[in-house]
Amino acid sequence: MAAQGLRFTTGTSPGLIKSVPARAGEDEAGEEAVTAPDHPGRPEHLEVVDPRHAKSTKSRIAMLHALANIEAWAIDVSWDIIARFAAKHPELPDAFFDDWVAVADDEARHHSQLVARLEELGSHFGALPVHEGLWETAETTADSLLARLAVMHMVHEAHGLDVTPKTIARFASQGDKTSAEMLQHIYEEEITHVAAGLRWFTWLCDRDGLDTLPLFYDLVRANFAGSLKPPFNTDGRAAAGMTEEWYLPLVEPKKPKKAAAATEAAA
Ligand SMILES: [Fe+2]
Ligand SMILES: [Fe+2]
Repeated sequence: MAAQGLRFTTGTSPGLIKSVPARAGEDEAGEEAVTAPDHPGRPEHLEVVDPRHAKSTKSRIAMLHALANIEAWAIDVSWDIIARFAAKHPELPDAFFDDWVAVADDEARHHSQLVARLEELGSHFGALPVHEGLWETAETTADSLLARLAVMHMVHEAHGLDVTPKTIARFASQGDKTSAEMLQHIYEEEITHVAAGLRWFTWLCDRDGLDTLPLFYDLVRANFAGSLKPPFNTDGRAAAGMTEEWYLPLVEPKKPKKAAAATEAAA
């Protein structure tokens, strides 16, 4: 269609962008001759960002939002291990409670920092849907302190050590140095949380003469859906005192392709 027959206009209602035919005779009269706008109008409520940053900002906000959600649950989980197991285990020393109060303090700070960063990027906590996966683990392990330490702190939190360096690298590669530095600090504190889980798991096993590693494998298999998945952050886990014997035996061997296909066909 020839541009000559059209008037371009931007409506005042939100979302209204339209092209309408010119009234008969306008072109001939030259009263409203078409002039190409330097920049077509858009409704005022649209937030316009640089296309080079639009996708990365959205994905960074999604990542920060997911982490803020996990940290929020981590606060509850830290207090829960104290409140739920203190009465059941009167033998626990003060050092146990000191450790988990310190963890709760860290998690609250992590959550607050992530929420503040979301706001700096123009979003807010609650802008996206959240899940309650961590609390499901709290419920699954509500009757066993050993299971709680094993699954919550030595599987989930240890997995956090595996994935966080990659997340930090993504923020850094997208030029978000502020978030990358914040996540690096959070990562270093998370190492101490895995260390606390390991410390108290082994403390309880030593005290009761339990066979530590086989018990750990049994508890993870019974209370954690799925298997542990590499790649592992061997250095980060080692910094928490977690050597490979704590996780490599829990990796499910890859099924041969033929067997996997047969299983899928039978499902
Ligand atoms: Fe945290
Ligand atoms: Fe943590």
